[in-house]
Amino acid sequence: MTPRLLKGLLTLLVAGGLIAINGPTLVSAGKNALHEYKINSEGYKQRNGHWSMLSVPEDMRVNAIHAALLRTGKVLIVAGSGNDRKQFNAGKFRTILWDPETDRFTRVHTPSDMFCAGHVFLPDGKLLIAGGTRRYEKLRQNVTYAAGVMTVKDESPDGRPVTIPKGTEFLSPHGIAFRSTKQVVVKPAVKTLAADGTAKVTASATEVWVEAAHEGRASVIDHSTQFTIGGTHRDSADLYGVATSLTRAKQDYWGDDKSYLFDPATEKYERVDNMTLARWYPTLVGLEDGRVLSVSGLDQFGRIIKGDNEIYDPATKQWAAQPQLKRTFPTYPSLFLMPSGKLFYTGSNAGYGSDTVGRDPGIWDLSDNSFEKVPGLRDPRQTETSGSVLLPPAQDQRYMIAGGGGVGDSDRSTARTDVIDLNAAKPHFAPGPDLEQPVRYPNMVITPDDRVVITGGSTGYRGANDSDLLLCHIYDPQSNQITRMADPTVGRDYHSEALLLPDGRVITLGSDPLYSDAQNTKPGTFEKRIEIYSPPYLFQGDRPEIASGPVQIDRGSTEWFGIPAVGAVRSARLVRPSAVTHVTDVEQRSIKLDTRRNGDGLDVTIPSSAGLVPSGWYMLFVTDQNGAPSKAHWVHVR
Ligand code: CU
Repeated sequence: MTPRLLKGLLTLLVAGGLIAINGPTLVSAGKNALHEYKINSEGYKQRNGHWSMLSVPEDMRVNAIHAALLRTGKVLIVAGSGNDRKQFNAGKFRTILWDPETDRFTRVHTPSDMFCAGHVFLPDGKLLIAGGTRRYEKLRQNVTYAAGVMTVKDESPDGRPVTIPKGTEFLSPHGIAFRSTKQVVVKPAVKTLAADGTAKVTASATEVWVEAAHEGRASVIDHSTQFTIGGTHRDSADLYGVATSLTRAKQDYWGDDKSYLFDPATEKYERVDNMTLARWYPTLVGLEDGRVLSVSGLDQFGRIIKGDNEIYDPATKQWAAQPQLKRTFPTYPSLFLMPSGKLFYTGSNAGYGSDTVGRDPGIWDLSDNSFEKVPGLRDPRQTETSGSVLLPPAQDQRYMIAGGGGVGDSDRSTARTDVIDLNAAKPHFAPGPDLEQPVRYPNMVITPDDRVVITGGSTGYRGANDSDLLLCHIYDPQSNQITRMADPTVGRDYHSEALLLPDGRVITLGSDPLYSDAQNTKPGTFEKRIEIYSPPYLFQGDRPEIASGPVQIDRGSTEWFGIPAVGAVRSARLVRPSAVTHVTDVEQRSIKLDTRRNGDGLDVTIPSSAGLVPSGWYMLFVTDQNGAPSKAHWVHVR
C-alpha cells in the first residue's frame, strides 16, 4: 500500500467516525487498517492462508476440552464440566455438535462428566469415550482433615462378603479415628489347595476413601498402620484396615470408570461397560483388530495408574483387564498404531506422571509386552505437553515430536522438533527444524497435501506470563522445512484442540490459561472462541472434485471414483478423522493411495495392512498439481 493510499484509507475511517482523532491512536489505527488490508489480499492468502472467526451462538459457547470429527462431517465438541467446578457441582455437563456444511450448532445430552476422558473411533464410526471426572481436585489450603485411601482386608476365607457402610469408623492403635466416605462391599479371602493338600489363603483387598474424624495435623498417618473397623462384629484379626498415607496433601482429580459410545447417526451417547479402572487422562488407541487399548490415567482416588492397562472389545462391548500388558506411562501418552500392529510411543504426554518412569520413547510389542527404546530424542526431559504426529504419508512411518516442556508446572519449554523414521534399520530421532519459539501445547494437523499445520501453544505452562503464541506454521516432511503462515488471533494453550475439516480447513478450539495477565495475578478465563484456518491450498483457484464413488470399501481392494478434470489430479489420500484432546490425537493419519487414471476418474487401491489402515471411516481427498485438495468423500474401510 502506498502512503497516499494509506492516508486515504485513514481519512475514510476518521470521516466515518470509526476512529477518534488523536496522534497515537491514529497511527495504531493506521497500522491495523494496513494489517487488515494486507491479510485480506488474495496474494497474501495464496501464500499464507487465512484465519476467520466462527460465529457461535451465545448458548452454544462451551469450554471445548475434546473435539472429534464424525463420519457425518459434524464436529463433536465435548466440554463435560469444562474444568469449571461450579458446572461440576451443579451436575451440568455439555456437548455440542457443529455442522461445518450448514454452520448449525446443536446440543447433545451429556449423561456424566467426560471432562478429561479418552476417546477413539471404532471400526463402525462410533466414538468410544471412556473415563472422565468423578471429583474435582482439592487444593492444599482446602484440605483441613487428613484423608486418603484405606485398604480393607479380609483374611477369612469362610466368611461372606461384608458391607462396610459409609461413615464406618477406622481406629488406629493410637486412637486416631477415620471415617469411610462411601459404602463398600469386601469380598472374603480366597483359599486355594496345593497338590500336597496344604491350604493357602489370600486376603481380599478393597479400597475406600477415608477422612479423619478430627481436623488438624494430629490425625496424619505417614507409615503403614493397621486399623480396627468399628461395628462389623467380626474378629479384627481377620478383617481390618491398612493405610500408609492419610495426609493433608493436595488431593488430585478423581477418575471415572464410565464409558460411552457416541453414535453419529443418532447423535446420542450410549452407555457401555465400565472400564475395570477409573481413569482421568487416559489414552485410548485402536488396535489392528478393531479392539481398543486404554492406557494410563489417574484412578478413582487420583493416583497415577501404575501400568494396569485394559482392552475394549466392540463385539462384546466389554472392557477386560490385561495383566500381561503391564506397562507404565504418564497420563495421555501419545501411542500410535504401526503397520506391524505394535504401538509407537513418541514420548509425548499431557498432564501427570513420574518425571522418570515411562518417559522414554519406544516401540511396544503387545504380543510379548516388550518395549524397545529408540534413541536420539533431544530435550528428552521436555516431552510433557509436546505435540506428536505420524507424518504424512503414514506408509513412511516417520513421526514428529514438537515442543513440550518440563514435567508439571515447570517453566522450561523447548522449540525442538525431532523426526524418527521407523522404517529405518535402526530407528533414531534426527533433528527437525526448530520452532520459532519454545512451545507447549502445539496443535498439529495433517493436511491432504502431505503437510502439517502447527499452530498455537504457549511458551509458559498454561499460557503463564501471557505467553500464548499467535503463530502458525506449515511443516513439509519432504523438505524438512517449516514456513510461517498467517497469524491466528486467538491464543491456544492448555485444553485446546485443532482438527482437519472435510472441506480442507482447520478448526481450532479451546484454551485454558491459568492467568489472564502477564504478572500471573488474575485468574484466566476459558477461551470459547473458535477460529478457523484456511491453508494456502484453498486460494489456488479451482479445486478438484470427487463426484462419485463407493462408500463401503474393503482393505486391499481397488475402487473407481469419478473425478471431473481428473487430468489435474496428482495424488489421493485417505485421512482418518481426528479425535483430539490435550494436544493428543492418536487417530489422525494420512495414507497414500496408489491410483491409476481410468476414463473420467481414478482407480484407487486401498492398502491391505490393518495396522496401516485400521477399519473405520476415512476422508478420501484428491489433490491437484497446485496442491489444492478436493472436499472429502467419506468412505468406510473394512
Ligand atoms: Cu485436562
